[in-house]
Amino acid sequence: MDIINEIRKEFETRFGAEGDIRTYFAPGRVNLIGEYTDYNGGHVFPCALTMGNYAVARKRDDDKVRWFNLNYSDNGVIETSIRGLKPNDHGLWYDYQLGVIWAYGEKGYDIPSGYDMVMKGDLPAGAGLSASASIEELAAVIIRDLFSIDISMPDCAVLGQYSENNYNGMNCGIMDQFASAMGKKGNAIFLDTAKLEYEHVPLNMKNEKIVITNSKVKHSLAGSAYNDRRKESESALKYIQIVKNVETLGDLNEAEFEEVKDAIKDPVALRRGRHAVLENQRTIKAVDALKKGDLNTFGVLMKESHLSLRDDYEVSCEELDILAEEAWKIDGVIGSRMTGGGFGGCTVSIVKEDTVEEFKKRIADAYLKKTGKNCEFYIADAADGAGRIQ
Ligand code: GLA
Repeated sequence: MDIINEIRKEFETRFGAEGDIRTYFAPGRVNLIGEYTDYNGGHVFPCALTMGNYAVARKRDDDKVRWFNLNYSDNGVIETSIRGLKPNDHGLWYDYQLGVIWAYGEKGYDIPSGYDMVMKGDLPAGAGLSASASIEELAAVIIRDLFSIDISMPDCAVLGQYSENNYNGMNCGIMDQFASAMGKKGNAIFLDTAKLEYEHVPLNMKNEKIVITNSKVKHSLAGSAYNDRRKESESALKYIQIVKNVETLGDLNEAEFEEVKDAIKDPVALRRGRHAVLENQRTIKAVDALKKGDLNTFGVLMKESHLSLRDDYEVSCEELDILAEEAWKIDGVIGSRMTGGGFGGCTVSIVKEDTVEEFKKRIADAYLKKTGKNCEFYIADAADGAGRIQ
């Protein structure tokens, strides 16, 4: 049974088949290049995935919500009021939905009532493919549609980030929510995170596939280290602002960074700042190369991105390094790097179609040999963003 039928059936059994029941989907994302640039005023280049979270929902005529998630059926039905919500950092699936309800209120939108909902996702858990942003955007589009709220999709992305920052206590940037909200089939999104200006860029890969490799590890420091990195790059910016008038690290190119870098007196902040500046420049160059059909340059920049994330931003880990290094050895791999927040999760690789099977075999064998663990592969198809589907 496909997911849509499954959640519909579950909904009817739990909450009844009557009334206006609607179906929604919000995708996860994979980032091709532009990592840890989003809160530094730089560019990112993610695409939405065909994997994500699905929901069926029906509005109620009181302030209650009743929610059930088939991925977490042990939680049972979550039943609560949409009024009087208090931020917390529990990070459970329903906290991301409640956060969005809260954020709508904070931003001055009136949500007239609650809703019943059953959801299920097909994103691998804890893999860094933005399961939480997908849940936020799912909530954003359910509420937008059920209550005819006049909010644009880019603003739904901003709302999701706002709720994750202020309700769930995670200081993420805008990339994941924007990718989930604004995806377009066959395209990646070239987003300037400082101005929130974006462009859909076709992934004209006729003979290549985007392969995601899941390391199946998630190191426990991920959440706190994420917020630490943000502080450290803000510190780099503050040092630079003593000698140069800039608003974000994304305002600087390589040469400008060389001129000001001695002002950064803390060596950790220097490395974080260097990554943010150079990664942004790499992203601009990579998109330019892709538009010209020069995938090889894109691949070289992916490798540089990984090395910089490993050495300067220090968000990789042994497992991700093994996956990337093994991929670089294979003819037919155009580029490979860790993707997303790091400390585990996935790599993204561009692989010639006729090499994909060899890629999977060689990577799986090498990874098992070196780590004793099994990895998992997904072929990424760039998909449309969040919305109502039935
Ligand atoms: C996580 C965050 C994003 C972004 C990436 C790193 O996915 O949610 O905002 O910072 O890490 O590029």
